Amino acid sequence: MTLTELVQDARRATTAPDPIAALRRLQELVADSAGDVLSWLPGGGSDEQVLYAEPAPTLLRVEIPPRTEYPPHDHLIPACVAVLHGRETNTFYRAEGPAVIPVAEIETAAGGVLPMDEHVIHAVGNRTAGRSIALHLYLGDLFELSRKIWDLRTDTCAAYTDERYFALSHITEPV
Ligand SMILES: [Fe+2]
Repeated sequence: MTLTELVQDARRATTAPDPIAALRRLQELVADSAGDVLSWLPGGGSDEQVLYAEPAPTLLRVEIPPRTEYPPHDHLIPACVAVLHGRETNTFYRAEGPAVIPVAEIETAAGGVLPMDEHVIHAVGNRTAGRSIALHLYLGDLFELSRKIWDLRTDTCAAYTDERYFALSHITEPV
């Protein structure tokens, strides 16, 4: 697989009869060949690298520093994560008034995939001592949507911005 083929396959998935299943199948292929994908995937060393976003799907390389967790946010479109290196912890929330309440947590190690529907509110983190690397695919243009972000310290909700997202990141407990 190459980056061009990945983008082509992801674009094709958006028009498949079952786009969510097609996206998951593609991410399973990506996760199965994580070593190869990491050898050509651009953006190594940066926390978030947009690989493709117009008009759909959105492809992000997400690299999380050790023991870092980002704030809860929504996507409003289906997504699927393929973890390529290390381990991601995803905490899922439900909205209650302006706050969110944790309802589930899923650990995904390298080689694993994690699909999310369009209703998901989640926080992604890396509780290990090394960096985690994953490919996040979204069935739509993530940057065109009016999304939300939650501040767990103040139990408030605000419009999503990248600036707010990174400002609300925090250090997790060692595991
Ligand atoms: Fe997310």
